[in-house]
Amino acid sequence: MKPKRNLLLLITFFVFLSLNSFSTVESDLASERAALVTLRDAVGGRSLLWNLSDNPCQWVGVFCDQKRTTVVELRLPGMGLSGQLPVALGNLTSLQTLSVRFNALSGPIPADIGNIVSLRNLYLQGNFFSGEIPEFLFRLQNLVRLNLANNNFSGVISPSFNNLTRLDTLYLEENQLTGSIPDLNLPLDQFNVSFNNLTGPVPLKLSNKPVSSFQGTLLCGKPLVSCNGPSNGNSNDDKLSGGAIAGIVVGCVVGFLLLLMILIFLCRRKRDKTVVSKDVELPKEVAVEIPNGKPAGEGGNVSAGHAVAVVKSEAKSSGTKNLVFFGNTARSFGLEDLLKASAEVLGKGTFGTAYKATLDAGVVVAVKRLKEVTVPEKEFQGED
Ligand SMILES: *[C@@H]1O[C@H](CO)[C@@H](O)[C@H](O)[C@H]1NC(C)=O
Ligand SMILES: *[C@@H]1O[C@H](CO)[C@@H](O)[C@H](O)[C@H]1NC(C)=O
Ligand SMILES: *[C@@H]1O[C@H](CO)[C@@H](O)[C@H](O)[C@H]1NC(C)=O
Ligand SMILES: *[C@@H]1O[C@H](CO)[C@@H](O)[C@H](O)[C@H]1NC(C)=O
Ligand SMILES: *[C@@H]1O[C@H](CO)[C@@H](O)[C@H](O)[C@H]1NC(C)=O
Ligand SMILES: *[C@@H]1O[C@H](CO)[C@@H](O)[C@H](O)[C@H]1NC(C)=O
Repeated sequence: MKPKRNLLLLITFFVFLSLNSFSTVESDLASERAALVTLRDAVGGRSLLWNLSDNPCQWVGVFCDQKRTTVVELRLPGMGLSGQLPVALGNLTSLQTLSVRFNALSGPIPADIGNIVSLRNLYLQGNFFSGEIPEFLFRLQNLVRLNLANNNFSGVISPSFNNLTRLDTLYLEENQLTGSIPDLNLPLDQFNVSFNNLTGPVPLKLSNKPVSSFQGTLLCGKPLVSCNGPSNGNSNDDKLSGGAIAGIVVGCVVGFLLLLMILIFLCRRKRDKTVVSKDVELPKEVAVEIPNGKPAGEGGNVSAGHAVAVVKSEAKSSGTKNLVFFGNTARSFGLEDLLKASAEVLGKGTFGTAYKATLDAGVVVAVKRLKEVTVPEKEFQGED
């Protein structure tokens, strides 16, 4: 009797064991099903039209493992879900991806999400979640991607993020986060904290991220402007812009000086040209006043004689010029002598400049160089 009884006990034990394991699997999916139903009932949403007669693994957005024993992904993006997430999803104990992005969910993240240690991707962006970024998220050691962007999260960015040693993507942009960024020591590939009320320096480990990762914040330091104030730049950008400004200033000054020098040179040349009339380009007409051929030094009154000579271009083509004398004056000098004479400016008038020319022979004459006079010779003679 005894062995028989033992065998019976053993069989009973095995039956119990197998039943128990079976019921565990069943209850697992049942528990997950219950959690999903709780979610469906809690959030308003047009698309959670799950047929409760079906296996939950067939529900829209619910993805199970191959054996259909557990839910591994819940993806409900842009389904118009509103209200608060219920305490329920923590029962999806094998969940790896939870996405409720781009809905209208509000309130805090329920604490039981911190129990889903299998969670690798958590996408909550584009909702109205508020409150601080909860500490229980930092228990999710398997998290690789965390997106909390475009919500209403407030408070600081906790240094406990360093617990998430596998974190690769961290999106926190467009929230109400304050304080400074802690010294994160994570292998972050994607990172964004734009449009938060953050201050202080960008941690060294994040200085290789693009500027657009830190837009709309009061953060400073590489890749943004230096924390030491814009005047005392330490970043390359500051130095470059300072150098550029200096370059522009120097360029302007040099350009101005160059322009000034050219102007001065041109003025000088013009004056030289007018003073020394023995240039290659002869004046069109020169009126020479001769004080009766008296030698210089005898106090020759320049305006005394009123004898006038005019340089006359014989022909445009030949270019030969000669002095034509008017009045009764001895032709004591020619154009060549006049051009060789030393001259000094007597005064400038409307029609030209007057010079006092001292000829080699000692004769002093007044020379008036006329500007662009287009008077016919006969008329000119009449003017005398
Ligand atoms: C739900 O599924 C059952 C069986 O799978 C089916 O008979 C029933 O019509 C479905 N209900 C709706 C509303 O689709
Ligand atoms: C989650 O599972 C626990 C048991 O593990 C159960 O007591 C609770 O009611 C479940 N919650 C939901 C929302 O299904
Ligand atoms: C971070 O991890 C350490 C151990 O790895 C643990 O003691 C600590 O509680 C964790 N912090 C949070 C906020 O979960
Ligand atoms: C965001 O949070 C602030 C408080 O932190 C609250 O005053 C505001 O109404 C919230 N905005 C939304 C859209 O939930
Ligand atoms: C963030 O900054 C904006 C503008 O500077 C301000 O209106 C808002 O109140 C600040 N929010 C918090 C949570 O400090
Ligand atoms: C960061 O977020 C802001 C605002 O959403 C966006 O304009 C910018 O392109 C993002 N940058 C990166 C590197 O993701």
